[in-house]
Amino acid sequence: MNIDFTFQNPTRIHFGRTAMNHLADELALYGKNVMLVYGKNSIKKTGLYDTVMETLKQCGKSVCELAGINSNPRYTQVLEGCRLVREHNVDLILAVGGGSVIDCSKAIACSAYCDDDPWEHFWIKNLPVPSKVVPVGTILTMTGTASEMNSGSVITNEALRKKEGHIFPMEVASPRFSILNPEFTYSVPKTQMVSGIFDIFSHLMEQYFGGDDDCVSDYLLEGDMLALISASRQALLNPHYYEARSNIMWCATMGLNKILAVSKKQDWEVHQIEHQVGAYCDCPHGIGLAIVSIPYYRLIMPYGLHRFVRFAKNIWHVDPAGKSDLQIATEGIDCLSRFIDELGIPRRLRDVGCTEQMLPLIAASVNKIGGYHVPTTEEVLSILKACY
Ligand code: NZQ
Ligand code: ZN
Repeated sequence: MNIDFTFQNPTRIHFGRTAMNHLADELALYGKNVMLVYGKNSIKKTGLYDTVMETLKQCGKSVCELAGINSNPRYTQVLEGCRLVREHNVDLILAVGGGSVIDCSKAIACSAYCDDDPWEHFWIKNLPVPSKVVPVGTILTMTGTASEMNSGSVITNEALRKKEGHIFPMEVASPRFSILNPEFTYSVPKTQMVSGIFDIFSHLMEQYFGGDDDCVSDYLLEGDMLALISASRQALLNPHYYEARSNIMWCATMGLNKILAVSKKQDWEVHQIEHQVGAYCDCPHGIGLAIVSIPYYRLIMPYGLHRFVRFAKNIWHVDPAGKSDLQIATEGIDCLSRFIDELGIPRRLRDVGCTEQMLPLIAASVNKIGGYHVPTTEEVLSILKACY
């Protein structure tokens, strides 16, 4: 554990089939005015909207709504939410949905009383939050991002064609509570389910491919990867299998609540590339990650070869006998590629609405942060071309 750290995660998790029983007690901790934030129509279709409204009513809350949050939430929606928070003097933002709804809610919570333009203030200049931040609680309906237990918020600024993540301070912006009932994810369409699964896997890899010390976080990351592969295969066969869906849900939350990242050098470049693919094509986040991952990892593999060898052996059980390190590592990436096929994820950017003309624009606008290696614009372009 070579990098010193301070760790605290303030989110209270209620997990399982009875998790919703805790909603009323949680609501009692906040004032009367609640803003309910949700997506397009899934919570109305499943009936969750009615259940939540009933509980809010029983708890005597006055409710305003911010509905229609896009997958890949828009900055304009953040600004609209800020206006509503001020107008209704909101005491609690209740986010019911997936990562997009939760990210948007956290952004609103921190931006509503910000005197500057929030995009400039947070996503560009990384300045502190104002003294007043509205608390957020969540009811999760789609698993993958771990937004339910972290303080990240990824927002798309359409005018600038930039999808940018910002990490707010954990202690003020993380959800105060999150309700995680795996049964709520049964209705998620298969494309979104596999997108979420790959998003989880990507979070684990981004934290794993960095550093060369012997660190407990790497063993925990390997455990989460193995659990996820096993549960995903079961969920593909039977999407209503509770054990599989509950394991996937907890793999996701653990995957990016920052506990597996302690004392770790990391590499978040795949996410940086996907964010700009998303800004141009508006594709599901995990699908974009899967498409760019294979060419990215083939490019950086020689720079962190020892870790890719470990990945091949410990995750994909590649037999090392008689092989060079490069051969073992390459087989590991081949196994990852076959896992993406097993999930039934499209393999080409053109399948998610990207055009050839977009590729140089995407490459130029990607943040280059890297890990074992920091890619150049030309290298990012070559990655995009390889999976176009
Ligand atoms: O809008 P509705 O109708 O609710 O439909 C949603 C949406 O179309 C649907 N859905 C959600 N729950 C459902 C359901 N459909 C049926 N039944 C249910 N129970 O699923 C679609 C996708 O939802 P979304 O919230 O967009 O997905 P996800 O959870 O993957 O969130 C993606 C966003 O999170 C960001 C991504 O970049 C992207 O913008 N991320 C946030 C992170 C964080 N906060 O730490 C980290 C991640 O790496 C990621 O970048
Ligand atoms: Zn992600």
